[in-house]
Amino acid sequence: MNRTVAVIVGSLRKGSWNRKLAEAIATLSPPNLRFEFVEIGDLPFYDEDIEASAPLPWVRFRNQIRSADAVLFATPEYNRSVPGVLKNAIDVGSRPYAQGALAGKPAAVISASIGAIGGFGANHHLRQSLAFLGMPTLPAEAYIGTAQNLFDEKGALTNEATRGFLTGFAQSFATWIETQLGANASVRAA
Ligand code: FNR
Repeated sequence: MNRTVAVIVGSLRKGSWNRKLAEAIATLSPPNLRFEFVEIGDLPFYDEDIEASAPLPWVRFRNQIRSADAVLFATPEYNRSVPGVLKNAIDVGSRPYAQGALAGKPAAVISASIGAIGGFGANHHLRQSLAFLGMPTLPAEAYIGTAQNLFDEKGALTNEATRGFLTGFAQSFATWIETQLGANASVRAA
């Protein structure tokens, strides 16, 4: 079945390795997945006081997430956690209470770093938030270390092992989405 995947990149940097890796996943994935990059750099900081008259970027972001079947997160690690801009997007996407756009959507997480550990700390901090939101998250781990060595000067992924890994990751995510949405559909039907 055709599925739309919202892609949230935790880096605002134009040359972001995480964005390049997410773009590579979109290219390498099974054809039934359509990837839509959802931007988060313009989201005002979450503030409960302005929820009743939610800023337009919040509304736009929430609608884009709502219209997607699943969410792919690609995040750097900042100080062993997720960048603040990504945490803010999750907070915006989690509200209003009990009506959050992110809640329950199947998800996958990839993290990338210029260091050797591949954003492990950010990856797992992010999974903690996704668990709270009831987002069934692909168990497969994806920590991409020394990401700056995987691309050529034009930004094309040149590392064959990484290409193979991302192809398998995208395939697993496609299967995961069907399993989760199918399982939820049968729970609803019961
Ligand atoms: C970093 N970086 C970093 N790397 C890492 O492996 N662990 C960390 O805790 C941090 N902390 C950190 C904090 C801040 C504020 C910055 C700006 C950077 C380095 C990080 O891996 C590198 O900048 C990546 O290139 C960021 O990912 P993008 O922007 O290329 O996707």
